[in-house]
Amino acid sequence: MTTQNQRLLQWVGEITELCQPDHVHWCDGSQAEWDRLCNELVAAGTFIRLNPELRPNSFLARSHPADVARVEDRTYICSHRRVDAGPTNHWVDPAEMKATLRGLFRGSMRGRTLYVVPFCMGPLGSPFSLTGVQLTDSAYVAVSMRIMTRMGAAALEHLGEHGAFVPCLHSLGAPLAPGETDVPWPCNDTKYIVHFPEERSIWSFGSGYGGNALLGKKCLALRIASAVAHDEGWLAEHMLISGVEAPDGRKTYVTAAFPSACGKTNFAMLVPPRSYQNAGWKVTTIGDDIAWLRVDDDGRLRAINPEAGYFGVAPGTSWESNPNAMTTVRANSIFTNVALTPDGDVWWEGLTEQPPAGLTDWMGRAWSPELGQPAAHPNSRFTAPASQCPTIDPAWDDPSGVPISAIIFGGRRATTMPLVFQAFNWVHGVFLGSNMGSETTAAAAGATGQVRRDPMAMLPFCGYNMGDYFNHWIEMRRHIRHLPRIFHVNWFRRDAEGRFQWPGFGENMRVLHWIFDRCHGRARGHETQLGWMPRYDEINFEGLESFTREDFDRVMNVDPQEWRREILSAEELYLSLYDHLPKELVFQRELLAGRV
Ligand code: GTP
Ligand code: SPV
Ligand code: MN
Repeated sequence: MTTQNQRLLQWVGEITELCQPDHVHWCDGSQAEWDRLCNELVAAGTFIRLNPELRPNSFLARSHPADVARVEDRTYICSHRRVDAGPTNHWVDPAEMKATLRGLFRGSMRGRTLYVVPFCMGPLGSPFSLTGVQLTDSAYVAVSMRIMTRMGAAALEHLGEHGAFVPCLHSLGAPLAPGETDVPWPCNDTKYIVHFPEERSIWSFGSGYGGNALLGKKCLALRIASAVAHDEGWLAEHMLISGVEAPDGRKTYVTAAFPSACGKTNFAMLVPPRSYQNAGWKVTTIGDDIAWLRVDDDGRLRAINPEAGYFGVAPGTSWESNPNAMTTVRANSIFTNVALTPDGDVWWEGLTEQPPAGLTDWMGRAWSPELGQPAAHPNSRFTAPASQCPTIDPAWDDPSGVPISAIIFGGRRATTMPLVFQAFNWVHGVFLGSNMGSETTAAAAGATGQVRRDPMAMLPFCGYNMGDYFNHWIEMRRHIRHLPRIFHVNWFRRDAEGRFQWPGFGENMRVLHWIFDRCHGRARGHETQLGWMPRYDEINFEGLESFTREDFDRVMNVDPQEWRREILSAEELYLSLYDHLPKELVFQRELLAGRV
């Protein structure tokens, strides 16, 4: 495969010299290439081919046990000035970081193949898409990128002779000496996930997993893209995009920002309860993780999904909780760190109530429930083409995106946060997003279950100063004529026994319905200290009679003591952003404190 793009050719030449791979392969993204690389991965022991009758053209990969999630403490934003990365990002002077990285990458691909992976984030041919080229010594990454992005010859064509691209350099950091045998999941104890926002480049070293290694996703489409969006006047967000089709055929699109492993995939593929289905309601899927939002000529906010696949959390996914995801992963999928059944299929916690006998766990060991350890890693994931989702929206690939009527923020909160409320206005909505708290999950290395501030679900993904980011959100208001309504939801409130107080999953349709009604001026709601809330009779509980009015009151309850603590704990982030914090948000905090 050839390109006339001199900048690309020159860069590939430079990196080949630096990393010294044995071979260079330009990925064309073809089926034949996929077949060949997957066969090689099977031969290398990285892939296990799943039973073709149960799971055609699909594979299981088991990572190194120390390479199972994003590494936030090894992730850097290397802007020229420290203040432009801000207090929520790790920062090192770019020249110093480059020197460190050059040392690490020197010879790092010896004994391996360098794959040149051209990819397009966003629809091919769209002026809003961004092109990246990932240079990687991981065939697993190359085939994963074919699912997650528009990868190969078409992306190279989109780039053209003079087009700009984001250089994404990736090495596992595991060179092979002559004659040395490889391991199934090469990686390095030393990890660096580094972004140079001004230069718009990415260097990732030492990890082969997920957001650390599939550089189109978090690194390009969020960290670099958020910095580009700040300069150009749009938004790159950690949001799902979905469509609600009412019985009269009217379509309303929403986005929702929930932190990692907090329900975006589930909500994006929501199956409405039976009574809703019978009445003719439908939910369609545009994206499950990332949204790029721009204001169109009519002053409407429009969203595209820059990705072409899902890298979704496996545990908890079942025919019951998310049948659309189950259908999506029926074939042509890669499963990483799930368990293997004796008949060559996959299994994870929550897939079935009873685990099948004879499982092999994610580390390749014979598993039994007595071990007291999960068979699948909590951050095990499937990689599957978006086009296989049965509820994919006809407009999911539309270069002009879909018009957004509501923006939903939400976190995983056992207490404090009610099921749903609506912001009084845009600035109040930005305030709610900026204050978002959520329990940490297995999506990032480190302790889980601790509430931390995760503004707009972007804490690990904002490529510049978080205070400037808040300001950018507030500024956007001036350009949007038809302002989306902003909401806050919490599916995760628990009772004293630790049980979820809200049934969640498909039942979230009832909350989405109220949001839909609010967008169309149909539900009056009532004003509270926090914002607009639904009255009991504004939520449709048909078919969910077991959920009583008392249950509703409980899940909507606002406890002043808890809110005191909430305001105090949110203060911490605001203090750290001090001189970059927009005044509007300080006023909002004062107003809230006054009301509570
Ligand atoms: P990333 O891909 O990491 O950005 O996350 P995501 O937000 O797409 O996460 P996902 O939808 O895969 O959420 C995974 C976890 O959330 C699983 O443990 C689900 O069981 C749980 N979950 C999703 N929706 C609900 C819900 O409505 N209620 C409850 N209780 N749990 C839910
Ligand atoms: C997340 O952690 O928010 C993910 C998974 O979507 S990863 O791509 O690994 O970042
Ligand atoms: Mn995510």
